[in-house]
Parts: sequence; structure tokens; C-alpha cells
Amino acid sequence: MAVQFTQYVVVVFSIIVSGTDGLKEVEVTVPAAVRVGETLTLVCKFDLEGEPLYTVKWYKGAKEFYRFIPKELPSTKIFPLPGINVDISKSSPNEVVLRNVQPEVTGRYKCEVSSDAPNFDTKMSSGYMYVIETPLDDPSMIIDKNFVDIGDYVSGNCTSLPSYPSTNVTWFLNGKRVQDSFQKKLEVIPEFYSSKRKYYVTTSGIDFQITESTLQNGKAVLSCVANLFNIYRGERKEILEEAKPRPRPSSVLGPRDDRSGTRKSKRSIASFMVTLMFMSWYR
Ligand SMILES: *[C@@H]1O[C@H](CO)[C@@H](O)[C@H](O)[C@H]1NC(C)=O
Ligand SMILES: *[C@@H]1O[C@H](CO)[C@@H](O)[C@H](O)[C@H]1NC(C)=O
Repeated sequence: MAVQFTQYVVVVFSIIVSGTDGLKEVEVTVPAAVRVGETLTLVCKFDLEGEPLYTVKWYKGAKEFYRFIPKELPSTKIFPLPGINVDISKSSPNEVVLRNVQPEVTGRYKCEVSSDAPNFDTKMSSGYMYVIETPLDDPSMIIDKNFVDIGDYVSGNCTSLPSYPSTNVTWFLNGKRVQDSFQKKLEVIPEFYSSKRKYYVTTSGIDFQITESTLQNGKAVLSCVANLFNIYRGERKEILEEAKPRPRPSSVLGPRDDRSGTRKSKRSIASFMVTLMFMSWYR
């Protein structure tokens, strides 16, 4: 009992001590993703609760690139890092503006704040930022058949062109999300891209069975979407068409359809033409 009591006392005591610390949590806001060449703002919020500020330092990974010391003149110091161009005129103790960001700017950004005497307290926080490069075109889709019957299996692949980082590829059948059968990310180093970093080609597979509900008026729309955060979205669509159109409810009234072979083949030629037109529209 006695041991437990002292532990409680210590806990309560340390809460009181930390409560008197001036510097409260440091909060960092960095964009999750930006495009090459963009200008962005890194935000560092902190509350000193009346204590004097000693420094604000910004790091990319382990390397410092920005330091603010109000007691010194000039109060702002910049340490050069590849791809990082700080706009000093727009930066403040709470905000650092980076212009024309380059691929190598991708990384973890940390803000470290220290209070001056008497406490010399230091707190930090960080966030990760991607400088992205989007695929140069929409994804491509290959499916093993466009004409289907109920019960058929359809398989296909969707591939997005090189990007950094890799895209998320998702499938939709008639607008509804469908689970992929695999997702593969290949590392590539294309020569025509701006930097020598690795890019990724993402391929996603699909394998599903056609059911009554798949075909709506004899058709289904299969699409695949490649996403990079909320910045890029590329889409490719294919139309699946019923190979042997089922009799329409109206034809139940009369068996005429089955009598004339020539009419039937004319009709299927017509529907084939319509399908070709649809396919070329959607390409
Ligand atoms: C999709 O890719 C897989 C693996 O690369 C391959 O085995 C399959 O034949 C492809 N499917 C189609 C429809 O091209
Ligand atoms: C991919 O999707 C996951 C889960 O939704 C998400 O956390 C991640 O940020 C996405 N990646 C990209 C590059 O968009």
C-alpha cells in the first residue's frame, strides 16, 4: 500500500510540473502531396503560454534548412538543401514558404520549437510530404472479352503509366467498386522523366462472373481508375455487351422472332454494329 501511495504522489507531482511548462504541443501541418514546381506553405503552430521564444527550426529528415532566432540579427537563417527554395519574405516563425519544389523535396518535415530561459523547453512535431509526378496518360485496360453471356467469367488487367509514388488502381462495374484479384507495383526508371528517382507502374487484375444483375439492358460498364492522393484521377472504360440478347418481355407475346432465321441474323448484325460504335465511342 505504501509503495502504491508514493507512486501516486509522483504521478500527481509530475502532472503539476509539466503543467507549469510554458511550451505546449507543437503542431505541424504539411501538405500530403504537391506537384513538382508548386509553391507550398509548411505550418508550425505552438503556444508558449507567455514564455519567451528561443528558436524555431525546420528539418527535412535530419537536416536543418530554416532557423528563426528572434534575439539574433538577421533573425532568419537558411541552410541550403537540394530542391528547397525558401521564400524568406513570405516566411515567419509559424510558416515557411517553399517555392518551385523539386522531386527531392519529398520527405519528412519536422518543426522544433524551444523556449528561452528559464525553462529551455523543446518540443517537436513532423509530417510527411510527397512531391508527386502523375502518369502521362489515363490507365490502359485489357479484357479477355467484350461479348459476354450470363455465367461467363471476365478477366482483365488495368495498368497505369509511370508515376511517383505508385497510383492506387480501383475497379468499378456499373459504377460499383469491385475487388481486384491482384495488384502489382513495378519499379521503373524512365529516361524522359524529370528526375532519376524510381517511378512505379501499377497493374491491377480483375476476375468476375457475369450474373443476371451485371447486364442492364444487355450492357455493363467496366471501368478502372488510377488515383494519386486527391490530386490526380485517370479513368478507362470498356463496355461489356450481351453476346446473345435475351428475348425482351414484349416478345413473350408473339413467337415471331423464332420463325425467321434471316430476320434473326439481320438483327444480330445490327446489334454487332451498334456494339462496335459504342466501343469506338468509349475508347
Ligand atoms: C493479366 O496479367 C496477368 C499477369 O501479368 C496475365 O497472366 C493475364 O493473362 C493478363 N490478362 C489479360 C486479360 O491480359
Ligand atoms: C492509396 O489508398 C490508401 C488507402 O485509401 C491511401 O491511404 C493512400 O494515401 C493512397 N495512396 C495514394 C498515392 O493515393
